Amino acid sequence: MQLFHIFGKPMLRLLLLSFCLLTTSIHARQAAVATPDSFSADIAMQIMQNGGNAIDAAIAVNFSLAVTLPEAGNLGGGGFIVFRDHNGQASFIDYRETAPAQAHRDMYLDAQGNVIKHASMFTSLAAGVPGTVAGMQLAHEQFGSLPWEQLLEPAIRLAEDGFIVPQKLADKIVYWQSFYAKHGIKNNFADYFAHAKAGQRFRQPELAATLKRIQQAKSDGFYRGQTASYIDDFMRREHGLVSHQDLQAYRAKLRPALQRSWQTYQLITAPPPSSGGIAITQWLNMFSRLDGQRLPHNSVAYIHLLAEIGKRVFADRAEYLGDADFVDVPVKALTSPYYLAKRASQVNVSNISATADIQPGLAESEDTTHFSIIDFAGNAVANTTTLNYPFGNGMVVPGAGFLLNNEMDDFSVKPGVPNAYGAIGGTANAIASHKRMLSSMTPTIVVHNNQVKMVTGSPGGTTIISSVYQSILNALVYDMSAQMVVDTPRFHHQLLPQDQIRLHQGVAADTQQQLRELGYQLNVSNFGDMQVIIRRDGQLDAAAESRGRGRALVISQE
Ligand code: DON
Repeated sequence: MQLFHIFGKPMLRLLLLSFCLLTTSIHARQAAVATPDSFSADIAMQIMQNGGNAIDAAIAVNFSLAVTLPEAGNLGGGGFIVFRDHNGQASFIDYRETAPAQAHRDMYLDAQGNVIKHASMFTSLAAGVPGTVAGMQLAHEQFGSLPWEQLLEPAIRLAEDGFIVPQKLADKIVYWQSFYAKHGIKNNFADYFAHAKAGQRFRQPELAATLKRIQQAKSDGFYRGQTASYIDDFMRREHGLVSHQDLQAYRAKLRPALQRSWQTYQLITAPPPSSGGIAITQWLNMFSRLDGQRLPHNSVAYIHLLAEIGKRVFADRAEYLGDADFVDVPVKALTSPYYLAKRASQVNVSNISATADIQPGLAESEDTTHFSIIDFAGNAVANTTTLNYPFGNGMVVPGAGFLLNNEMDDFSVKPGVPNAYGAIGGTANAIASHKRMLSSMTPTIVVHNNQVKMVTGSPGGTTIISSVYQSILNALVYDMSAQMVVDTPRFHHQLLPQDQIRLHQGVAADTQQQLRELGYQLNVSNFGDMQVIIRRDGQLDAAAESRGRGRALVISQE
């Protein structure tokens, strides 16, 4: 009663509140994670509570996802890390797969020049040279603080002792097994995964042994010795291309992150070989130039405006983007304010622009996974990694126990022929020895007043770009909580298929009706699995998309 009385006095309440805020900002340091499953969220928190930084946590999470999230977490795939340290220094670790030395432009075409069905997706030829282990070692050498061996330990335990299979993973395994059977796709997927049943313990002894070799010898435990021999033997038997020489030649690369301003924020995001950083920079800046923030969120006008912008973004993507180590990617020109102002002025705010009229604009020429981490010191990691399709090409390296990617399909296998995500490309993204295939993965950190404001990212092929820029609009223009940011219905348009918008379930029925009347075809199917951290009113707020099996945690340290 007495206490209530004191709290009831406005002046005292104000004093008390400011004291609390002051003590939280001085004493309670926070760390947050949003990861695509609960095993990895717990591991990330443990690492940070044991004194590890965000990169240590990211490495441990990535290895554990290779065990518990086999549809996308991997040793046999690749990905990107965007990192910002607590002093504001930004970096990008590119551990994207590369084309094997024997790969060539027309490797997926038959004698008549037609694309051979499934060749770039579900055969041994679909696999690029894996980048994950080299990427983790590079991240550790540059920014890690705990011993390497310690970061492998949780993944080894999960592989050796097993883990209880979540229902959603069991369902995916069943779905993909029947998909392979229905389409006559031959692989050894069932030998390794058919016995992973919901609610039961699932052990992966071969994978555990591979992880131990990596624990002992770092990259050499993967790119050389026993693991490399398993890969090379399998490729010879299955007529694939990845060889001992390819594995030894693989290098992860430290590159400058793409940094661009938008409104009062700084975007720190993925440069080529991702298309994502350039694409979200274009999308967000055109949105602001066209005063999109005046529009009600997810209204017809809002969705149409962003679809119109998307037509232009994807026309540029198809023409100009590829691995910048091989082709000249005009990054500056594509993100220059002058260019984006001109491009935005061509957007038709009331009607759909004809697809054929949307040309590249410069004067001359479904399973990935993402996690976000901020540690107690304020270092931030955005990591997206993939095998490309769920479970990659469906082939496990016998003896080594991990799935191989089918990332080669992200190259343009023939000019104008869409890949698995409906994206087209030309010479910039043609196949060549050792080249990296163009990606849409867009791990992104947003900075405001020199402090990390948001860490975001998602799977979803080309829809990743829409998930990421819309998460930024949701959080920073429409002021949503982290949970709302990830669960609010999203939409995606990418020039082709013509005038088609892919929509999450949950967009209002009358909005859908009006979009149809405007001339759009709607494809209602969910995409993405966002893992987001936002700083709101000085506190970290983290969320994993409710449809997935992710977990977000925020903890304070006195
Ligand atoms: O790098 C890319 O853009 C694709 N390989 C990503 C694949 C993906 O997101 C699948 N997820 N649903």
